[in-house]
Amino acid sequence: MKTFLACLLVLSVSVTASNASCYVLPLNPVKRGDEIIGSYDMKGEPHEFNSQWKTEDCLECSCSKFGISCCTTYARPVNFDEEKCVSIFNNTACAYEVVEKADHSKTCEVHEWVG
Ligand SMILES: *[C@@H]1O[C@H](CO)[C@@H](O)[C@H](O)[C@H]1NC(C)=O
Repeated sequence: MKTFLACLLVLSVSVTASNASCYVLPLNPVKRGDEIIGSYDMKGEPHEFNSQWKTEDCLECSCSKFGISCCTTYARPVNFDEEKCVSIFNNTACAYEVVEKADHSKTCEVHEWVG
């Protein structure tokens, strides 16, 4: 019972600590001779262990011996006037912009963002 509670606690802490969404690519070994020195990403590009980089679709990735993990770096607007406004992802700024449906030059107030 104690172990169960401890696990539950760890789980809830890790959920609240990171509200970014991540995915993991399993290790796809890059070899130098017999040695595994890194992993290939989804585009087939090699990355060394312990390296970090940003992708053009606004993800932050890192490579470890377990594979490549990528997380979003931007927050998503969740609490705004959806009748009147629409959220648009800006790939240059790596951020959502919430603007009026009728006039995209007008920004809307957002009450809450989630990662
Ligand atoms: C996206 O963000 C960039 C940099 O902040 C800005 O210059 C550009 O106008 C934005 N694009 C759109 C479609 O809002």
